[in-house]
Amino acid sequence: MDKHVALTSVSEQANQIPADLLLRIDEAVTHYPVSKRSASLPLLHLWQNQFGFIDDSGVNWIAKRLELEPINILELVTFYPWFRQQAAGKVCIRVCRTLSCALAGSFEVRDAFCKAVGIDPKAESHGHTPPVSPDGKFSVEFVECLASCGSAPVALINDDLAEDITPEGTAAILSQYN
Ligand code: FES
Repeated sequence: MDKHVALTSVSEQANQIPADLLLRIDEAVTHYPVSKRSASLPLLHLWQNQFGFIDDSGVNWIAKRLELEPINILELVTFYPWFRQQAAGKVCIRVCRTLSCALAGSFEVRDAFCKAVGIDPKAESHGHTPPVSPDGKFSVEFVECLASCGSAPVALINDDLAEDITPEGTAAILSQYN
């Protein structure tokens, strides 16, 4: 993997860090007095929660804050599917496709979500960025087991867990986010 991350421009995330995010980052780093590197994942979560994704300027900024090389942060962003390098929808729909959910119909549920928000069910994720609805509001993707196999099929809608979903029930779920 290329060790160098592209240089940033003034419009990028690192130039728009709100004061409260800086405070939360400073506080998170205090939890790892022996190895600042251990703060990498917490800082990436804080960054993505703020901006929705992590651009190159974010990778560089976090690396500098933790006295690391950018590659040390970039390799985490590209390894963990949870992290994104481009914007997804404002409402992220993550449908479980692991065995219990697949057997209970999660592929049909995913297709129903796609159709309801105007995404082609055949559309694939690119890298860590799922297909996004034409209005930019929703993204739909598959994820692996969400640890709720007993109520399969399940999906995470942003941070909310929806259980025992049927294709017919997807419209009612989406109506809560309109
Ligand atoms: S298989 Fe879907 S939650 Fe475990």
